Amino acid sequence: MSARIHSLPAATASLEPMLALTAKDMLAVNAVILNRMESRIPLIPRLAGHLIAGGGKRLRPMLTLAGAALLDYSGNRHHRLAAAVEFIHTATLLHDDVVDGSEMRRGKAAANIIFGNPATVLVGDFLFSRAFELMVEDGSLRVLRILSHASAVIAEGEVDQLTAQRQIETSEERYLAIIGAKTAALFAAASRIAAVVAESEERVEQALDDYGRNLGIAFQLVDDALDYDAHSGIMGKDRGDDFREGKMTLPVILAYARGSAQDREFWRDAVLGHRIGDDDLAHATRLVTVTGALETTRQRARQFAERAIDALSIFPAGEARQAMVQAAQFAVARAF
Ligand code: IPE
Ligand code: IPE
Ligand code: MG
Ligand code: MG
Repeated sequence: MSARIHSLPAATASLEPMLALTAKDMLAVNAVILNRMESRIPLIPRLAGHLIAGGGKRLRPMLTLAGAALLDYSGNRHHRLAAAVEFIHTATLLHDDVVDGSEMRRGKAAANIIFGNPATVLVGDFLFSRAFELMVEDGSLRVLRILSHASAVIAEGEVDQLTAQRQIETSEERYLAIIGAKTAALFAAASRIAAVVAESEERVEQALDDYGRNLGIAFQLVDDALDYDAHSGIMGKDRGDDFREGKMTLPVILAYARGSAQDREFWRDAVLGHRIGDDDLAHATRLVTVTGALETTRQRARQFAERAIDALSIFPAGEARQAMVQAAQFAVARAF
């Protein structure tokens, strides 16, 4: 194993190098996305277009493209597959906002607010199906196996989270299993398929999988911290959603474990949905801050980002690896 490379200064945290590395390919991916969200049923492109026009960081398809660049892949199969990855992500966001009752996504009213739950669920199904069409067109059973498995695991994670909702005794292990499934599985698969199209050996596939998976966990840890300390304007979604829904995210698990008897009573009431007003959210925000729960959550995110970066140590230094390192640092430094 070559030297650890994660100890670069935090000041280098940036998504810009990865955006630059993948910009040209991303134009092709966006063209596939626009083309494949079309349908003879006008409501489909209208609803899908509403979410897709809201932008989004395109992180997951970017992982496929960056992985392909890292491996000097010179074909174009990754364009369709990266679009499939973003369709899977977009479908899960549509479904997730219905399940979570969220009102804001990508800086705009969520699709469920504008179009209602039934249309939002059905268009989510449409986008999932489009993703599978794209994979079948690619023709690789191996890619199909990786992405279809990831899709099943995401759904498992969302259902597992649903059953853990309002359960104050949820453990950190359970929480990590949930985010590993609902978020990290797709990050891992998006990275891994780059190695499949580049026809790399298994250890390269595994390294990219490790990179994506650890990055995904770090990303979701930070997302869960931001739900308590970000300004919704920057995030593009409403802060406090997790709190109001009684989601046992790591900031809450830690603040509950570290709290006084009085704090613990507050958390029990809040998680059950009895204390979820604006004053309660302000109080919860104070508690996750003074108990150090938010700081520990971010620290855990940094550890996973370091593991992601360590996974890249088998690859030669260069523009692509550097961009992937900086993207992992960005995942923990980000405020949106
Ligand atoms: C949102 O993912 C869902 C989470 C896993 C937190 P992103 O933050 O990548 O969403 P977009 O695509 O940029 O909107
Ligand atoms: C996002 O989960 C959906 C998936 C990862 C499938 P969350 O509910 O935690 O994310 P946001 O906050 O709505 O984006
Ligand atoms: Mg949600
Ligand atoms: Mg969230």
